[in-house]
Amino acid sequence: MSHHPIRTLVVGLCALAATAAPATPALALAVPTGGQPTPHTAGRALQAQTIADLTTTMQGEAYAHAVYGLFAAEADRQGLPAVARLFRTTAQTELNEHLHEAATLLGVVGGNAANLRQAINGETYEHEVMYRRFADQARQDGDLEAAKLFSEIAADEGRHRDAFRTALAAVTTGHGTVPAPLKADVVSVPSGLPKVKAARTKANLDTAMHGEALAHAKYMLFAAHARQSGHPALARLWEGTAETELREHLAGEAVLAGLVRSTKENLSKAITGERHEATTLYPGFAEQATAAGDTAAARFFRDTAADEARHGAAFQKALDQLG
Ligand SMILES: [Fe+2]
Ligand SMILES: [Fe+2]
Ligand SMILES: [Fe+2]
Ligand SMILES: [Fe+2]
Repeated sequence: MSHHPIRTLVVGLCALAATAAPATPALALAVPTGGQPTPHTAGRALQAQTIADLTTTMQGEAYAHAVYGLFAAEADRQGLPAVARLFRTTAQTELNEHLHEAATLLGVVGGNAANLRQAINGETYEHEVMYRRFADQARQDGDLEAAKLFSEIAADEGRHRDAFRTALAAVTTGHGTVPAPLKADVVSVPSGLPKVKAARTKANLDTAMHGEALAHAKYMLFAAHARQSGHPALARLWEGTAETELREHLAGEAVLAGLVRSTKENLSKAITGERHEATTLYPGFAEQATAAGDTAAARFFRDTAADEARHGAAFQKALDQLG
């Protein structure tokens, strides 16, 4: 999948890695924050560049997972179940293997309380800063539908933050209960053209979708940890919130962005993204990790590049068969 512009991301991450200061935005979700174990492998801290590259990896993989799910649904609507299956199995690899392994190398999943604090930081940023700014900008640019959606999502993120705060109190004091998740209002994403005009709105939708995809993926990891550690109610809160991030927030944004097109176009877009990852992005990350002496990360990037080459080839074959 195509990657979100990473310049600011990498700069922000290097700063974070150096200072362990309270994280900014989407990054808050991606980067281990203060109080969490330092990312490490083989007992040795990862170099800042490797941390930045693994974080970029998590963003891209979370986004690919989300987008392939939407492409699968479109293939089903077009009566192409084999293509739908290919998108779904590939989406699972992006999440359960690629993102999961990058998260493990980074040490993103901590204890239940640390995971809740990390999520509270991310939700607070989205609620107080990001979505309000995006709504204001969309209004200024005359994209009123987007302004309305961004405002609604801003309010939802405040509710997510509050639910996580209540859960944190229950987990840390043993008093009170973990709240049930709010029910997701599932949005379907048929193929269609963008419904926004301004370039700035389009860029903000792209940033927002990457943030939602990453939140979804991380909350699923946190849910697995909660369940394994004997906190089923907390697992349900993570899973229910993850569902809202993906199937309501990201989906609503995808409709306005015109993300889903015909299955042929979707396959072409997927092939471009996979080839970029296979030939440029991950080989580059592998070289940097090797130079930094982060050998486990280097091996992960090399293996992942090979997987992405297989994904690209499988999508190409599917496209050829559509004729
Ligand atoms: Fe991947
Ligand atoms: Fe949220
Ligand atoms: Fe969200
Ligand atoms: Fe892939």
